[in-house]
Amino acid sequence: MITVMGATGHTGKRIVEQLLKAGESVRALGRSAERLADLQKAGAEVMAGEPSDAAYLTEAFRGAKAIYTLLPYDPTVSDYLAQQAAVGEAIVQAVRASDVRKVVALSSVGADLASGNGPIASMHEQELRLRELTGVDVLILRAGAFMENLLPMLYVIEQHGLVADGMEADVPVPMIAAKDIADAAIDALLARDWHGVQVRELLGQRDISYGECTRILGQQLGRPGLPYVQVPYDEMAGMLQEAGFSTNLAGLYAELARGINERAVKSLEGRRPENTTATSFEAFVAEMVG
Ligand SMILES: NC(=O)c1ccc[n+]([C@@H]2O[C@H](COP(=O)([O-])OP(=O)(O)OC[C@H]3O[C@@H](n4cnc5c(N)ncnc54)[C@H](OP(=O)(O)O)[C@@H]3O)[C@@H](O)[C@H]2O)c1
Repeated sequence: MITVMGATGHTGKRIVEQLLKAGESVRALGRSAERLADLQKAGAEVMAGEPSDAAYLTEAFRGAKAIYTLLPYDPTVSDYLAQQAAVGEAIVQAVRASDVRKVVALSSVGADLASGNGPIASMHEQELRLRELTGVDVLILRAGAFMENLLPMLYVIEQHGLVADGMEADVPVPMIAAKDIADAAIDALLARDWHGVQVRELLGQRDISYGECTRILGQQLGRPGLPYVQVPYDEMAGMLQEAGFSTNLAGLYAELARGINERAVKSLEGRRPENTTATSFEAFVAEMVG
C-alpha cells in the first residue's frame, strides 16, 4: 500500500489515479471525505484529516511501503511559514512513529536557500527536517514553477488585456506541468530504488520566460501582441493581496520574484535529460484553453 498526501490536488490526484491503474493499493489523504469520494470509487482507501495532525498522519502512514508528502498551501494564512512548519513537523513526527521507510517529498527549485526565496523557505526547512530522519530513504523532488500558477492570469488577461508580474520579462524560469511532477513521483513510488537522502530536480520541458509565456498565451487565446508588464515588487504584492493572498504571503512572493530576477533562485543541477520532463508550455496552454 502507498499513501498519498494532497490526494485531491494537482499532483496527488494523478498519483493516486495512476497508482491504482498500475494495480497498487493506495491510501488517499485529504481534509474532506466528500472531496475524496471519487478516488474511493476508483478503488482507493481514503482517510480524511488535517495534515498538521501528527496522530492522523501516523495512522495514515502506518503499513505503507512508500508515502508521497507535500506541504499543502493556504494563500490566506497570516503566517505562512508557521503554518507550513506545523504541517512539516507533523509529517516527520508521523514518519518516525510509523514504520515507513520510503518517502517521496515534493519540494522546489530554490529550496537549497534558507532565505531570499519567499514561500520556498518552508521547503528548505522541511528538507532539513527530513534529513534528520534515520533509517528512512527520502527522495526530495525539487520541482520548478508549476505551469498551473499561470491559470489565474487568464482572468487578468480577460479583465485588463495584459499579463503583469514582478518577474523580468526575459528571466528564464524552469516551468513544469504538475502532471509531469506526478509522473516522476509515481515512477519513484513504484520503483522504490533509491537509498539515503536523494535530491532530484524536475525542470519541465525547457526554461521559459514570462515574456515568452505571454506571447504563447496571446497566440493561443487569439490575442497576438498581448503585453507583458513587469511591475515593481510592492505593486506585485498589492495585486496578490487584491486577489485574496494574505499580506504575509504576498510579501513572500514578491521576495521570490526578486530572488528569481537576481538569479539566486535557480536550478543547481543545470538542465539535463534526467531532469527534463515531457509537457511543453504550448501543450499545457492548448489543453488549458482547449
Ligand atoms: N506552485 C509552484 O510553483 C510550486 C513549485 C514547487 C513546489 N511547490 C509545492 O507544491 C506543493 C503543492 O502541490 P500540489 O499543487 O500538488 O498541491 P495542491 O493542489 O496545492 O494542494 C493539495 C491539497 O492540499 C489541500 N489543501 C488546500 N489548502 C489546504 C490547507 N489550507 N490546509 C490543508 N490542506 C489544504 C487540498 O486538499 P483538500 O481540500 O481535499 O484537503 C488540496 O487538494 C506545495 O508544497 C508547494 O509549495 C509548488
